[in-house]
Amino acid sequence: MSRAPRHPGHPDPFGEGDKVLLVDRKQRRYLLTLRAGGEFHSHEGVVAHAALLGAPEGSVVRSTKGATLLALRPTAADWTVKAPRGAQVVYPKDQAMIVALADVCPGATVVEAGAGSGALTAALLRAVGPTGRVVSFERRDEHADVAERNVGERFGGLPETWELRRGDVVAGLPDVACDRLVLDLVEPWTVLPAAVGALRPGGIVIAYTPSVPQVMRLREALDADPRWGLAQTTETLVRGWHVDGLAVRPDHRMVAHTAFLTTARRLAGDALPSAPPAAAPTEG
Ligand SMILES: C[S@@+](CC[C@H](N)C(=O)[O-])C[C@H]1O[C@@H](n2cnc3c(N)ncnc32)[C@H](O)[C@@H]1O
Repeated sequence: MSRAPRHPGHPDPFGEGDKVLLVDRKQRRYLLTLRAGGEFHSHEGVVAHAALLGAPEGSVVRSTKGATLLALRPTAADWTVKAPRGAQVVYPKDQAMIVALADVCPGATVVEAGAGSGALTAALLRAVGPTGRVVSFERRDEHADVAERNVGERFGGLPETWELRRGDVVAGLPDVACDRLVLDLVEPWTVLPAAVGALRPGGIVIAYTPSVPQVMRLREALDADPRWGLAQTTETLVRGWHVDGLAVRPDHRMVAHTAFLTTARRLAGDALPSAPPAAAPTEG
């Protein structure tokens, strides 16, 4: 396993094993791991890793075809976009909002399902810090393998604050008590009955769902159970801007939709929703 990654702004020059993001003049981004004797190949030529080893972050290197590339340490967002994936990942704009809306704070115990490619897992692990804990459920082994690899790469080993459970979240929830529950799976409403037992009163559930029918089903389930309150649904649009002299305008293209985020609070009390009164028998 690689050593703990150095974050942007680390004072040391680039060394062996460091992750480096190369950015070309068209803003294309490439993520590589520096190795003695290694080479980076693209259609713009070759850059020997030796040209980067010992160079400070923010250096510009030249390829064999004369192209210039800017070398930086990758941000968490760069990792998310560039990491190998099995399942579709949650992108940085939604990761940030999940951490903010669910108030994922240092020291919190967070349960997540499913782990997928581990992209959101990494953001949750950072947010809970060294005193928190993230328990991720993933029922597909091949996805769990990808999540484990990505989280290991991201943190230079598997963090002690992380537990990956290979199995169904509904079956596993009775064994955990948590402050936050983060759901990125197709039918989050099926998890709510078990979530009620796992989430501490005042705790927050947040679900990432791409489609409107999913939001409707989830909100109906939350509204039908008095043990949940303050349900809210939002979406996050991030629009880049083109800034070039006096040509300053919104970008023509944007990622217009990823998913809706629905949050709700676990209220005090264990009363189940009251059953609708039985219809009075009619005469005749
Ligand atoms: C879209 S992916 C999650 C991606 C992840 N949030 C990321 O950013 O990399 C959804 C995952 O949920 C898993 N999953 C679906 N239902 C599940 C359940 N009931 N228990 C555990 N995992 C489940 C799927 O196998 C899949 O890997």
